[in-house]
Amino acid sequence: MLNYRTFFIRTNITHFLVFYLKNKDQREDIMSKTNQLKSQDELDAPLPSHKAYIVRNYKTVTREQRERILKETEYNMFSFPADLLYLDYLSDSGTTSMTDLQWAALMLGDESYGRNRGYYVLLEAFRDTFERGEHPLRPLDLIMKGEESTQLLMEELYLKSYEGGFVNGGKYQLMRPNTFICPQGRVAEHLLFSTLAEILHEIDPSKHYAIPNNGHFDTTGANIRAVNIDPINVFDKKVVLEPFRVEDTPNSNPFKGNMDVAQLETIIQERGADSIPLIYLTITNNSVAGQPVSMANIKEVKSIADKYNIPLFFDACRFAENAYFIKQYEDGYGDKSVKSIVQEMFSYADGFTISLKKDGLANMGGALFLRDNGVFVQKYSLNGKNVGIRIKEKQIVTIGNDSYGALSGRDIMALTMGLYEVVKESYLKARIGLTQYFAAELGKRDIPVILPPGGHAVYIDMDRFLEGTDLTTEDFGGVGFTIELLRHYGIRACELGPFAFEWDQRSPEERKGILNFVRFAIPRNAYTKADIDYTVAAITELYKNKHIIPKVRISRGRELSLRHFQSGLEPVYRT
Ligand SMILES: Cc1ncc(COP(=O)(O)O)c(C=O)c1O
Repeated sequence: MLNYRTFFIRTNITHFLVFYLKNKDQREDIMSKTNQLKSQDELDAPLPSHKAYIVRNYKTVTREQRERILKETEYNMFSFPADLLYLDYLSDSGTTSMTDLQWAALMLGDESYGRNRGYYVLLEAFRDTFERGEHPLRPLDLIMKGEESTQLLMEELYLKSYEGGFVNGGKYQLMRPNTFICPQGRVAEHLLFSTLAEILHEIDPSKHYAIPNNGHFDTTGANIRAVNIDPINVFDKKVVLEPFRVEDTPNSNPFKGNMDVAQLETIIQERGADSIPLIYLTITNNSVAGQPVSMANIKEVKSIADKYNIPLFFDACRFAENAYFIKQYEDGYGDKSVKSIVQEMFSYADGFTISLKKDGLANMGGALFLRDNGVFVQKYSLNGKNVGIRIKEKQIVTIGNDSYGALSGRDIMALTMGLYEVVKESYLKARIGLTQYFAAELGKRDIPVILPPGGHAVYIDMDRFLEGTDLTTEDFGGVGFTIELLRHYGIRACELGPFAFEWDQRSPEERKGILNFVRFAIPRNAYTKADIDYTVAAITELYKNKHIIPKVRISRGRELSLRHFQSGLEPVYRT
């Protein structure tokens, strides 16, 4: 017999089941409709990648105040006090806002003179980043968590030895030094080229040498020229300036930063392979509108280098951004991780210089690497003296002990963590997405921006921007534009064209490699869409009023090397 309690429970269960079943269809219907909504990755706005925890407020500065400062600093962009700007696109180098993990690592910096603990984890981070792909060891975490086991630290970190890659360890780094920590990229370039020039002179003092590059950066070209070697740019200007539709920017990329391999081979054959001490590939190609280089191009250049037994070096400042482009836009790489793409890229190099102020996400740092027993080491180790020993001697005399390379122990820790942060794909997606947004907004307003953009900067083609004005190449209209942008709107950009690359001092042959750009380099993790919108509005206003852009006269230091860093200028306004 059913008692009252059982009856009550059964009735309630029955009611619940009826209710549940009645609403189940409805619920599934709603769920399936909900699932038809665009996903977080499909919205017309990019997924946020980070939040800001520290804010620096700007000062209010008027146009009249900026006018006075400009005059007193000789209208040189590099001399304007950054504290009095709104937006600063002068460089993406060292201007990164570091992540919380980097700040945490920085606190663990060790300022010892010999073999500070950061040295060991930095070397491991180099191996992890450039050689281990998806299988990093990350011994940095031992330091971060305060590992107390001396035995473990000895086994996993301090007494590990390596040989055969870019980062020898233990006694092999002493016998055959191949990793040289430096304060920044140009110091690494100086170590490499000044040592190389001495060796080449010992081999044959009468020979003249050249170093081809898909686009020598200004300091790289200057370092090479300073040791009497010709820096040659090997890219196809037509390809770079080729029109590209704004709407295609997110979907495809022609890798305009590639080296022109046909031209490379012609240069080698004309000059002779023994006059080319190395081939240099800049990834991404900063001087050529920051454009990426495809893996296919890296492989082609490598096979030419092998054919003539010439070492292939990278100028690898923006390796992570380059890898992200390969993943996004090159056939066969969509399913690969950025980390494994980086590993493949570097497997083709015999050595590299790098400014870690870019894709080290650090405010300071650089390095030079040589492949242990690679072509470079074999060719340039004379009379039984390993070339790495020569470089290290120079490093100690000019920069400092090999375990800190003029960096503080805190810099080293922040940099080590930065190498792990920079290959995170959510970061790279947001970074390159912001650059693409900037370029697309300019493109939509018919402003002649190089499309598609690279990763770190947006480049305006000043020849087209100034069409319709009476400015000639030697009036340095790109500089005039940057002066006006700063004067009216407090935004700093950088001319990378006839003024910076010293058009008037160059031969007709060298002039062919000079493009007329103004570059807006975007600091990492610092700016948002709102900053870009202000910049686009300012550029648009000047584009509409381009006739006011002044000619620029070099009032001091026309003949100085790297004059854009140091000469005095004067705008000449037409009445
Ligand atoms: C491609 C390239 N190479 C070399 C350098 C020099 O690096 P650093 O400024 O750290 O000396 C830079 C700096 O912007 C660069 O973009």
